[in-house]
Amino acid sequence: MSIYACQKEKMMFLILCFVLLFLVQVGYAKGSEKQSPKLSKHFVLVHGSCHGAWSWYKLMALIRSSGHNVTAIDLAASGINNQQPRDIPSISQYFKPLMNFMTSLPPNKKVVIVGHSLGGLAIARAMETFPEKISASVFISAAMPGPTLNVSTLMKVDLALATTLMRPLYLYTDEDMSKELKLSHKNYGSVSRVFILSNEDKVVTRDLQEWMIERNPPDEVEVIEGSDHMVMMSKPVELFVHFLHIAKKYY
Ligand SMILES: *[C@@H]1O[C@H](CO)[C@@H](O)[C@H](O)[C@H]1NC(C)=O
Ligand SMILES: *[C@@H]1O[C@H](CO)[C@@H](O)[C@H](O)[C@H]1NC(C)=O
Repeated sequence: MSIYACQKEKMMFLILCFVLLFLVQVGYAKGSEKQSPKLSKHFVLVHGSCHGAWSWYKLMALIRSSGHNVTAIDLAASGINNQQPRDIPSISQYFKPLMNFMTSLPPNKKVVIVGHSLGGLAIARAMETFPEKISASVFISAAMPGPTLNVSTLMKVDLALATTLMRPLYLYTDEDMSKELKLSHKNYGSVSRVFILSNEDKVVTRDLQEWMIERNPPDEVEVIEGSDHMVMMSKPVELFVHFLHIAKKYY
């Protein structure tokens, strides 16, 4: 068992080396000829509660270095957004910075939208309103409601989600969240969806992640081994490799 784990680590390390080499080469190639705009994607990153855009800094550097565009959103009363939680009594106000950003995109522009933890609710909302502007959605150890799993069921199933994750925020009512997160097969369901499961997460446990995946099956599930809840801090390179794969596969 431990030998197997060890070999897996080695394999992973080798793969990462190849990826980094590849990136360096892409970097050189870009020096001589401009990268085709078709190949470059725009990643929009949405943090979980207690966090802000800053939580993505490692990943942002990697994404930029690969020639893709990246924007990290601060939801209301988060990161450097200077509103206070008491100023945002409705969850729609909490989502507003992301919705404003999506509105500001030119009509023919598509992004890959990424949500971590409670940020999953925000990206689910954006998928429902802007399905035509999203080439793929990525839920990283995130709350993932959908047409077959409503937010009220989701928040009731595990106290960790409802309390730990929501603590700093105004406690939105069930009614408010259910109204704001009406998710349809037609809109939300039309967006390609990937779930990235972190298997040693103590906040959103593996069981809970699998419970959501079973009730609201995404197009693809990727597992990041040995990762705690803050995947983007503890395993940025692994996450980045998944992002590159998603950028290539979904457009
Ligand atoms: C990256 O996205 C931002 C926000 O939409 C945009 O203003 C900027 O021009 C984009 N950069 C590139 C290089 O496309
Ligand atoms: C959420 O789903 C559950 C189980 O399917 C259902 O009993 C409940 O009425 C739904 N709630 C809302 C607000 O739609």
